[in-house]
Amino acid sequence: MKILMVGNGGREHALLWKLRQDAPTAMFYATRPNPGMEPLAESVDVAPTDVDGLATWAEGNQITLTVVGPEIPLACGIGDAFRQRGLPLFGPSSSASRIESSKAFAKDLMEKLEVPTAAYRTFTKWPDAEAFISETGGPLVVKASGLAGGKGAIVCPTTEEALEAAREILKEERFGNAGSEIVIEEFMEGEELSVFGITDGRHVVLLLPSQDHKRVGEGDTGPNTGGMGAYAPVPSIRPGLMREVRETIFLPILDGMEAAATPFRGLLYAGLMLTAQGARVVEFNCRFGDPEAQVVIPMMDSSLLGLMVTVARGGSIADGECHWREGAALNTVLASEGYPGDYETGREIKIPAELEHRDDLLLFHAGTRREDGRLVTAGGRVLSVVGLGKDLEEARGRSLEGADAIGFEGKLFRKDIGWRALTALENQEA
Ligand code: AMP
Ligand code: GLY
Repeated sequence: MKILMVGNGGREHALLWKLRQDAPTAMFYATRPNPGMEPLAESVDVAPTDVDGLATWAEGNQITLTVVGPEIPLACGIGDAFRQRGLPLFGPSSSASRIESSKAFAKDLMEKLEVPTAAYRTFTKWPDAEAFISETGGPLVVKASGLAGGKGAIVCPTTEEALEAAREILKEERFGNAGSEIVIEEFMEGEELSVFGITDGRHVVLLLPSQDHKRVGEGDTGPNTGGMGAYAPVPSIRPGLMREVRETIFLPILDGMEAAATPFRGLLYAGLMLTAQGARVVEFNCRFGDPEAQVVIPMMDSSLLGLMVTVARGGSIADGECHWREGAALNTVLASEGYPGDYETGREIKIPAELEHRDDLLLFHAGTRREDGRLVTAGGRVLSVVGLGKDLEEARGRSLEGADAIGFEGKLFRKDIGWRALTALENQEA
């Protein structure tokens, strides 16, 4: 078997790590792998967005499975380019991936299918947005409709902040073209949950729910980022919730997309808010979450590859299952000071040897590169430090131990990943 991984961040490192365990004798390739992925896969020097170039390469090299990590190649039509040539690829078509690449499309779909989500309006013109915000009043959430690397949603407690956010996106083009349309939403209150479903377009295998930490600062303060850490499982989930999520969210969306001739095959990610009225959708993504994949995947105790191959070949996963190990995983993201704004790169990273090759601590690389034989920072999110343990407390201890021990100038990380769950557990014990 020959497997190509498209993408080179922390999520793709985790996927590659798992697929290699599932298929120890397979040959692995990755597009421009980061230094952590390098020992696991041969490098393919084609950009993930060069979808025809990658399809030609995969055809020439008789690749049996291609797995796509990030959303941009999917939005660019990598799924369509591969399927046109009969090449098995795990990931949706470009039209199905609009569920992520156009928030306006996703909201309209949810409204039509009566999937629970925040009330919303879409705007392309500043005066209309201004009038709506002034009339409705805060709190509101203002979002660029297009892809903005997880940074395009601005939670605005007041009317003035909502006006400012809408003005910045529509008039000052803060997110460029991604913000030519905006979505203004009702503010939802509750805890967030990330649920991944592997789907063949009709059936879905839901994975272990996880919780991301989107804000850059401790106590969930400061601007939104791509995600500063995550943990799984989430202990506060009430009985019946996953069934509700399957029946009120995943299945209606899959049926609706199939009926519209844009079936979704691949990984559908529902970002949820657990409100007093039940689970409501914050957003959908057309791929695994990052940094959530780095905790969900290591908890998997059954083959991921088997499900991916079936879906990529157009088969049915009606009987598909996933099994999970005992215990918990917690990921602390090490980022570059300044992220999600501007930051420096090229800072040398020191990883103590005792952190490598441990069963209870995994390091997944994201924004790293080699420079003159040294490992240096190359992005906003640099490394995922994943602790595994018998419970969340133990997993957190290991993750923090690793996060403290790794050194680079301007290292930024949250020490409080998992705080909601850990506080709730402490209260239960008291
Ligand atoms: P999004 O890019 O849509 O996933 O939004 C990023 C983050 O903004 C979410 O993970 C939430 O923390 C927050 N957010 C987005 N929409 C809402 C909403 N309607 N109500 C409350 N918080 C929201
Ligand atoms: N962690 C959020 C995302 O991957 O979109």
